[in-house]
Amino acid sequence: MRVNISNALSLLRAGELVGIPTETVYGLAADALNPTAVVKIFEAKNRPAFNPLICHLASADAVFGFGKANPLSERLAEFWPGPLTLLLKHENRIPSIVTSGSEYCAFRVPAHKTALELLASTGPLAAPSANKSGQVSPVRAEMVERAFGPDFPVIDGGPCEVGIESTICLAEKHGVRILRSGSITIEEIAGKGIPILEKQAENAAVLAPGQALSHYAPAVPLVLLEEHVPPAEPMNSLGETPNPAWASRWRDAGTDPARIAALDFHLPLPIDARIRFNLSEQGNLREAARNLFFYFDLPGASDIQMLVAATVPDQGIGRAINDRLRRAATHTGRIENGRLLILERA
Ligand code: TXA
Ligand code: MG
Repeated sequence: MRVNISNALSLLRAGELVGIPTETVYGLAADALNPTAVVKIFEAKNRPAFNPLICHLASADAVFGFGKANPLSERLAEFWPGPLTLLLKHENRIPSIVTSGSEYCAFRVPAHKTALELLASTGPLAAPSANKSGQVSPVRAEMVERAFGPDFPVIDGGPCEVGIESTICLAEKHGVRILRSGSITIEEIAGKGIPILEKQAENAAVLAPGQALSHYAPAVPLVLLEEHVPPAEPMNSLGETPNPAWASRWRDAGTDPARIAALDFHLPLPIDARIRFNLSEQGNLREAARNLFFYFDLPGASDIQMLVAATVPDQGIGRAINDRLRRAATHTGRIENGRLLILERA
């Protein structure tokens, strides 16, 4: 159900949830200072309580009223309003249900006119992506209604301009750790002369707990053609694969091409498919990011049984696209003589 800003304000003040547009993906918003309202987010999404929420505010000044600044976080705040989330130490003004009890709270100032107009009249809004836990993040108002029902209140802000979630950063003394790749790229951060610190696997899960969960289940199984998967072992001079055990792990996907949708990028994938979605015919990674989640969700309404995609160039926002593709993939695939093979899980 579409609502306007003043309806949304009344609902939020009454402790209810509202779907809100941002430049990245739609959020499921509640008044962050009202724990009873925030509980409803976890219930609606079926989200585990250990997975904390991002607080959205109207300006960097407003954020630093809740979270503690340090020199590098202030530099990163120059990306606001924009698709960057900062983890800041906070002084317990944000209820622990929002932060899952962490000493850090995640903050973001979204670059979306309607979201900023709303935030001008509210305090912090806790808002995860407006999907059920484990599903694809919504990039249009109708995707939010599909997830939570036609009567669920949503402000329609049109298709999301970015289409992929924000980059989550932790500013440390000597550099920035990127805990979730997103639309603000490593190149852009490094371009400000800010050192990028290597991700430490053991902290990363603690610092961005949501990243440890499997994610982004598309409407139908997704086969990811990975160039980095070792190809079949080299054939001998007779054209046989020396290790039959290895080869036998690959099986024919057995799906009728009429029921396959190819997620092409730039050039078509070498596979027979009735439906083709091109992430970007021009090979533009920003355009691909904008289309990705919309295409993940499309086959739900058709007789398509399988999506086939390949990774895109691993640069700029392409890194975030590849991260989402890998999290969404249900199978690893390769193409042999025009046939789609998928790898049996070991
Ligand atoms: O673009 C976005 O970031 C969107 C829009 C709506 O702003 N929001 C979003 O929220 O993607 P969500 O909840 O789907 O993802 C937030 C991620 C989760 O992986 C969560 O674990 C992490 O941020 N996070 C949130 N608060 C945190 C905290 N205090 N410490 C560590 N990680 C945190
Ligand atoms: Mg999410």
